[in-house]
Amino acid sequence: MNVTVLFGSPRRKGNTKKLLDYLLEGLKKKGHDVKVIYLNDLNIRPCQGCLGCLKEGVCKIKDDMKDVKKYILESDLIVFATPVYWFSVSSQLKLVIDRMISFMDTNYNSRIKGKKAITLMTSGADEEDVMDAPLIMFKKTFELLGIDHIGHVDARGCDEKRDAILRSKKAVEELVESL
Ligand SMILES: Cc1cc2nc3c(=O)[nH]c(=O)nc-3n(C[C@H](O)[C@H](O)[C@H](O)COP(=O)(O)O)c2cc1C
Repeated sequence: MNVTVLFGSPRRKGNTKKLLDYLLEGLKKKGHDVKVIYLNDLNIRPCQGCLGCLKEGVCKIKDDMKDVKKYILESDLIVFATPVYWFSVSSQLKLVIDRMISFMDTNYNSRIKGKKAITLMTSGADEEDVMDAPLIMFKKTFELLGIDHIGHVDARGCDEKRDAILRSKKAVEELVESL
């Protein structure tokens, strides 16, 4: 499978990367072709809401989103990896999700129907509902985009418990196994 990782944390050695590393290790072992995109390094402007992209699928903003879209279009599986920022996803990832409106057409049919997605999230707090809002956002967005949300790993309490990431390792391995 072709896999694109949309990496939304600005910290390359932080909690989200550690969680992602379990997934990358498993995916590579199974021979999948993986591209990790560090969104923080890219120049991606916010969606301007003109909806001009619906007609031809082309956004009028000329920036790095063009390359991100190319990778997504070539992928079977998209991994959305993000820290929880204020009960949501990071700004780096939200910019990309907003710009993904250009995958819809004028009838709001998706141009990327049938692709699969995995979400990985890390949070500082171990509150049970800390990831409810971003999970609903992912679920609803994927539904509209015709993307199959095949799994999610939510590592809560990373700033409170030293082993929070390690405790999620098995869940990631099981997810990779199920692919
Ligand atoms: C701007 C900002 C907002 C945050 N908001 C939350 C939050 O709403 N809930 C929470 O549990 N942790 C929150 N955190 C903590 C991060 O989610 C947590 O430390 C995460 O694991 C960081 O991932 P990283 O190491 O990949 O950057 C926030 C951190 C920052 C910097």
